[in-house]
Amino acid sequence: MSHATSPGKIILFGEHAVVYGQPAIAAPLSAVRASASVSAGATGGGPVINAVNLKMRITALDDAHQALIKAVYLALAEANQPENSEIEITLDSDIPIASGLGSGAAIAASTIKAILSYYNHPITTARLSELVYKVEALHHGTPSGIDNTVICYEKPVFFIRGQQPETFRTAAPFEIVIADTGIPSPTRVTVGRVREHWKKDKTRSEALFRQIGQICLDAYKHILEGATEALGPLMDDNQTLLEAIDVSSPELEHLISIARKAGALGAKLSGGGGGGNLIALVENGAGQTVAARLRAGGAVRTLITTIGNDDADLS
Ligand code: PMV
Repeated sequence: MSHATSPGKIILFGEHAVVYGQPAIAAPLSAVRASASVSAGATGGGPVINAVNLKMRITALDDAHQALIKAVYLALAEANQPENSEIEITLDSDIPIASGLGSGAAIAASTIKAILSYYNHPITTARLSELVYKVEALHHGTPSGIDNTVICYEKPVFFIRGQQPETFRTAAPFEIVIADTGIPSPTRVTVGRVREHWKKDKTRSEALFRQIGQICLDAYKHILEGATEALGPLMDDNQTLLEAIDVSSPELEHLISIARKAGALGAKLSGGGGGGNLIALVENGAGQTVAARLRAGGAVRTLITTIGNDDADLS
């Protein structure tokens, strides 16, 4: 029997524009994790996935769960094992699905790690990230690679598509409240919408992407220098641009405005948008107050995390 886990993640700055070559910044979220265990399966059964959250047993014949199956086959091939290997993979996760917290990448990463560990086959983080990218490509055709990178490296990352990712340490920790609108929003939907807008008016879209990229560069400089209070206005500016590229929603904007009124230094959606989660930067220690106001305003769940420390409180 082998066991592996992978964290969720939040994108701090730069989602969507990162697909078009602009930088983005993301951090792991260890308080919510996906886990996979692998044990010997029934003889002649081939691989079987026991998905605890879905309350389902999934086999290779199941078309509806291609991403899970792809992760299993990629791992078996990596370990030089046949596709019909008799293993049972048990998956569990407390990362909400389709909410921008990296559930798909974390499930794929933990599955691949657990299978390779079952066969005592070593894998580098870079290679793991490559395999998870291949699974992510099934969710939406053009993933930037930021989700697999931050989830596999389990460190804050400054990321530009196609370049070696830069993991980094924050000069000063900063507190973030994460709040879930409760509206599931598959990433491929908003990524597709952004692409449609881009196809219709590349000049406009690319100008907006460049502005998001510049916000990211400024934010990265402030994070490395410990000037974290400067990140609030940058989050607000990033949110305005996310609205302009049409990936926000009334529910996100309602909660973002509550966060700001409750004293957050800045707030924005995080991840694919359309629903899912927002993040709000708060003064250190103010997380509980802002989180309570967000829940009273309709957030179905909040998390408080300290970036540079990565301990989160769930509520
Ligand atoms: O998986 P999500 O919803 O956190 O979104 C990923 C970030 C995007 O920039 C929207 C897409 C991508 O591939 O980078």
